[in-house]
Amino acid sequence: MAKFDFSKRDSFGTKFGVIAAAAGSAVGLGNIWRFPYVAGENGGGAFLLVYLLFIIAIGIPVMLSEFTIGRSAQRNVFGSFKRLAPGTYWYLIGLLGVVAAFIILSFYSTVASWTLEYIYKAAADSFSGKTAQELTHMFVGFKSATFRPIIWQIVFMGLTAWIVLSGVKRGIEKYAKILMPVLLLLILVLDIRAVTLDDAGKGLEFLFQPNFAKLNTSSVLAALGQAFFSLSIGMGTLITYGSYINKRENLASTAISVSAADTIIAILAGVAIFPAVFAFGIEPEAGPDLIFRTLPAIFQKLPGGYFFSLLFFILLGVAALTSSISVLEVVVAYFSEELGISRKPATIVAAIGITALGTLSTMSWGALDHISLFGNKIFDMLDFAASNILLPIGGLFIVIFLGWFFGRERIRKELSSEGLFKVNLLQVFMLIVKFLAPIAIALVFLNGIGLLNF
Ligand code: TRP
Repeated sequence: MAKFDFSKRDSFGTKFGVIAAAAGSAVGLGNIWRFPYVAGENGGGAFLLVYLLFIIAIGIPVMLSEFTIGRSAQRNVFGSFKRLAPGTYWYLIGLLGVVAAFIILSFYSTVASWTLEYIYKAAADSFSGKTAQELTHMFVGFKSATFRPIIWQIVFMGLTAWIVLSGVKRGIEKYAKILMPVLLLLILVLDIRAVTLDDAGKGLEFLFQPNFAKLNTSSVLAALGQAFFSLSIGMGTLITYGSYINKRENLASTAISVSAADTIIAILAGVAIFPAVFAFGIEPEAGPDLIFRTLPAIFQKLPGGYFFSLLFFILLGVAALTSSISVLEVVVAYFSEELGISRKPATIVAAIGITALGTLSTMSWGALDHISLFGNKIFDMLDFAASNILLPIGGLFIVIFLGWFFGRERIRKELSSEGLFKVNLLQVFMLIVKFLAPIAIALVFLNGIGLLNF
């Protein structure tokens, strides 16, 4: 098999391109679809507070750790550990990342397929004049249909593969730069409509007023899982993207900007959704269906609703696309750099494998509706396994690697871009990656899965 030519490795072109691509990965269905329903299932305000705490204390440090590892090694997730820690078993974290990428993209593309159907429905003006109940009916009917969602899933994975084929600069970066700003603008428009609905107060109260009685150990784990999922951390997506970042970029400020953008968009999505949840009498615990029921209901009340709903679902699809690309890139970079398969076949093989696995999750409410474990369907099982187990474990080992193996001087060198920037707070960062983050992740994790009981 041909060897990969590392002198021809692709990279991001500009500073804005780096931020747009990394934010493109982070901002996706996790913010607009997953955050509102997970917050809804876990009690709202108190969940949000714990979530924010995890973003700051754990999320940003893990993101920065991933960038540091990737840029220092200039390799895919597996190759990064091989290169930085030769002769050790650290590469197993890289393998875990590749496995997690398969699982995440398999169920992620299920929801992305719903988005495509909703673009189509919006274009066909299917929401207008319908009650909240009819809209729910419409959604449930669609997702249990099996055939149609699978077709959309194949279309979506085809699109994802098509962009990844074009490479880092001319595929990933190019699209992210245009699409991210437009997404932000649209959410703001929806927010304005949502907060002016009658009864908006109840929804905002639900989201912002902490009620700690509603918080239990599994909701704390859910907040951690959501933080990892939303920031795209814990499986090497940002190690892979980090390896494409120019040596002169400031990694710390990039990590902070990307995390801030991701968090702001998640909160804005919550503000767009919860007022409608209450105004239209939907339960906030509606689960993965939540936005597909509430948003069409808001759009109907919006002057120009037809236009906005179409635009919104297109942008949701696009946000999903820029995230999916980043997950697929993990696998493609691994296949091409480690196994010597060239980019095109590597992309096609990875996309087909993921789509095949993904159909199982898409059929969770259709042909495979009868399969469940502890009341969870295949889709929920895959999501739980990836977000609440694999990502925290990956993140745990990533910070341990950085703090205990990689070491302070190599970190300083990478964060300062070999002396170009002054590194502030290195002491604090070291404390976090050596002690605080590993201990916090381990405790929340063991507690959340019930292995440890406080
Ligand atoms: N963060 C993305 C979202 O919020 C999804 C995503 C992309 C992801 N890459 C990831 C999640 C890596 C976990 C790990 O939609």
